[in-house]
This record gives sequence, C-alpha cells and structure tokens, in this order.
Amino acid sequence: MTRADVAVIGGTGFYSFLDDPEEVAVETPYGAPSSPLAVGTVAGRRVAFLPRHGADHAHPPHGINYRANAWALRSLGVRQVLAPCAVGGLRDTVAPGDVVVPDQLVDRTHRRIGSFVESGAVHLPFADPYCGRLRETVVSAGDGIADGGTMVVVEGPRFSTRAESQHYAAQGWDLINMTGAPEAALAREMRQCYAAIALVTDMDAGVEHGSGVGQEEVFARFRENLERLKGLLADVVAALPDPDGCSCSGWADGINLTYEVP
Ligand code: ADE
Repeated sequence: MTRADVAVIGGTGFYSFLDDPEEVAVETPYGAPSSPLAVGTVAGRRVAFLPRHGADHAHPPHGINYRANAWALRSLGVRQVLAPCAVGGLRDTVAPGDVVVPDQLVDRTHRRIGSFVESGAVHLPFADPYCGRLRETVVSAGDGIADGGTMVVVEGPRFSTRAESQHYAAQGWDLINMTGAPEAALAREMRQCYAAIALVTDMDAGVEHGSGVGQEEVFARFRENLERLKGLLADVVAALPDPDGCSCSGWADGINLTYEVP
C-alpha cells in the first residue's frame, strides 16, 4: 500500500507539486477528497500532494470536503501537513508577494462541517492552532518569511465588503482567507502537525482605494509566486523535524477518541 509521511495541500492556483507522482484514489467514510492524492518523493521523504480545490478547481472554498481531505491524508500515514494558501493582507505591514507563517487563526466560517467528533467528550486543545515546530522550520527555510500573524477565515466565496475588511483590521487581525478553517482543526483531530504558509495576493477591500479585490488579481499574484513557493516547500520538506513527541499528536493520549484516526 502507498504510504506518505508529509502532505502539501495546494491552494488557489497550485494544482501540482511532484515529479512523476503515483496517483492514489482514496475513499473515506466522509466521501471523496478533493482529488486523488499524488504521491512522490522529495528530499528522501514520501510526500502526498492534494490540490485543495481539486485538480481543475471544481470545489469552491465552502464546498470543499475538508473531513475527507484530512482523513485521506492520514490514511496514507501523513503526520505533517504543509498548507500553502492565498491570503489578502489587512494592514500595510504586509504586501502582495509576501510569505507569512501565521500563528493564530480566527474562524468566521459558518456552514462547514468542522469536526470528526460526532459523539462523546472530545475537546481538543487549540489555543495554538498551528504546530510550533513546523512553523519554525518554514520560517527558517527561506529569507524574508514573516513569522506570525493572525489569519481570519471567512466563508466566501465572495470577498469582503470594505466595512467587513476594515472591521477585521480593527480587531488587529493581519490576513484574510477562505480555506484555513476547518482545515487546521481537522488536522489536529487527525493528530497531525499542521502549518499554514500564506502567500499575500492582494490587500483585500480595506486598504485598497480602488475597486476592491477580484479573483483575477488573486490568481495572477499566486501564479507569479508559485515557483518560489514550490522551492520553499521543497526546502521545508528536507528540513522537517521528527513528528514523534509533538503535542500535535500527544494531545489525544489517554482520551477516548470517538472517531477513527486511520
Ligand atoms: N484569498 C486571497 N485573497 C483573499 C481575500 N482578500 N479575502 C479572502 N480570501 C482571500
């Protein structure tokens, strides 16, 4: 059976990562993931690549089967997840083209299934939604990568109004995105280490004086930075620490998990 240690979940504009991958179709108790998994080797590590929106971007942010994606990756053995994503910047400390490794998350989504827990007392710790060790590895892997920031995740698929954008910025939040939740919490439930790698594609509607953000801008900016992002990911994979002993899996020790971690 095909196995992998590490996953890269590609976001908007990021649909392939590996040379000559093996394609693995996985069925899960939650349905099919966004696409078959592509599995290959990077820096001696087995890596599974999953395009979050599907290979042809069939799944909008609110239509992604986040549980199937997380379960499918774990079923191959994945314990470390790198999650690149396109984000808007909410304040002028960031600019399009910047890569930021957020350390906090605000979940403003409201119609997604955000947990595997369907019964029993299972309350996962989530004060720090991202794996500290993975975050550190990403920040150290390249020059000029911003360390920390709060990413608010909105339901989409529409972009925010100017008033919403200004409101989010006034809360002190830095980045905005449509897919970071519930992906991070589901990874924690799957006892995986998870880090988001945010590529700033636009300045949302608040800082802009023009007509606000549109999807062409997001896609174009992502395309311009894709090769740089792939290079960074390859360097990160080569430098990943051993997942053993990390609190991202240890939180569930002694807890009666009422769902299957494959
Ligand atoms: N993804 C990229 N840019 C975004 C924005 N401005 N708002 C929400 N999600 C985004």
